[in-house]
Amino acid sequence: MTVDDAIKALSPEALKMVKNNFTVGLGSGRAATAIVRLLSSHVKKGKLAIKAIPTSLQIKMEAEKGGIPIVEADQIDRIDLVFDGADQIDSDGYMIKGGGGALLREKILINIAKKVVIIADESKFVKKLSRTIPVEVHPFARNSAAIQIKKFGGKPHIRLLERGYPFITENGNIILDCDFGSIKNPKELARKIIDIPGVIEVGIFSKPSVIYKVKENGKFEILR
Ligand code: A5P
Repeated sequence: MTVDDAIKALSPEALKMVKNNFTVGLGSGRAATAIVRLLSSHVKKGKLAIKAIPTSLQIKMEAEKGGIPIVEADQIDRIDLVFDGADQIDSDGYMIKGGGGALLREKILINIAKKVVIIADESKFVKKLSRTIPVEVHPFARNSAAIQIKKFGGKPHIRLLERGYPFITENGNIILDCDFGSIKNPKELARKIIDIPGVIEVGIFSKPSVIYKVKENGKFEILR
């Protein structure tokens, strides 16, 4: 089952949360893309009037293609709802995000949104977070930040594109994917990493308002 099939299954639920004139934050990745397609089908039919704030060029292009009016984050006074995916979610609702590199903008929108809705398939749910944590770093701090992350027990690897070039975020920074093994205290770890000079953002996110756990059989559970 694809993420699009899964979103179809939960689309009546998701659409119930979106009201006319809402300003909707759009995360990045497959789950967010599927939601954009769903919203766009309603916008095109004139059933829904919303504005969207995208967190990446990827999702902005998708929203434009779907005819959803775009606003920039610095032009709005509120965000009613954010739809997003996640790379891993622990049993307390802490998440690792930033697999696509959009963590900074995702965190900015999620921080001010009235409601945050996360959609993820069941393979992403774990007891303790254990994936590498994406850390967005100013290029000047590539080594200094890596040294500090190692002191905290992490193994940082600069994110590279397939042909070996460094991945550069839409904010002009690099990503250090940091392996900390199984993470006991995500909040504390995030706090330590964000304090490193040159670190722009950390891909540890805390508790969203709603999590849709999508199962293989197309059914879903609502958590939180
Ligand atoms: C983008 O940088 C990420 O935070 C995504 O939200 C995350 O990687 C989940 O993406 P999928 O919905 O594609 O799994």
